[in-house]
Amino acid sequence: MKYFLDSAKIDEIKYALVKWKIDGVTSNPKHIKSSGKPFFTVIKEFAEEFKDMDFPISVEIDPHLEDAKDMIKMATEIAGISKNFVIKIPCTEQGLVATKNLVEEGIKVNVTLVFTTSQAIQVGRLGAKYCSPFVGWQESVGVDCYGLISDIKTVYQNYDFETEIIVAAVRSAKQIVDAALIGADIVTAGFEVYKDSFYHPFTDKGLKIFQDAWDDTELGSL
Ligand code: E4P
Repeated sequence: MKYFLDSAKIDEIKYALVKWKIDGVTSNPKHIKSSGKPFFTVIKEFAEEFKDMDFPISVEIDPHLEDAKDMIKMATEIAGISKNFVIKIPCTEQGLVATKNLVEEGIKVNVTLVFTTSQAIQVGRLGAKYCSPFVGWQESVGVDCYGLISDIKTVYQNYDFETEIIVAAVRSAKQIVDAALIGADIVTAGFEVYKDSFYHPFTDKGLKIFQDAWDDTELGSL
């Protein structure tokens, strides 16, 4: 399963790439805002920083755009900046129309704000590069998304859809594990979620026990 970092902060993306071997990035208007920089400054940095590698970076269009032709115009402009860019399009009816056109033009699309299997079916039918069902938002209000992700996975297998499933808005190690058990292609989560997922207090406790034992043992010589 691939790990994407949900971020628009170049420093943390570079850290996660070098130290954790992440496979790509997803961003959204919230992440761009929290970077503190203008939209086009951030995406030009994305383009420049990772230009020599194959590294998918999802960039979301202006969320105010409601008409497919306006979405297509902005998506085409952004996609022209970097071969790594995948354009995030919302899963509205007009967004799906835009997706159809962009896919036909060879532009990679990540359909975002997906909450049901029926939405995901159309995303797969259209041949988008990625489908992003959001689990964190739903699970935070008590909806278990295990069934949603496994249903999408089953449907995509039934019809050999090539669209990859990004389990998105992941908030916990449990959600990462669920995605992997289902066989999702990708998870995307924030920096701290991944850090927490690498941690267990018994690992630290065990390390201390072994350090103490090591200190109480003679090393001898080889
Ligand atoms: C992936 O595309 C993101 O997870 C999605 O935009 C949700 O973002 P959030 O985790 O900031 O809510």
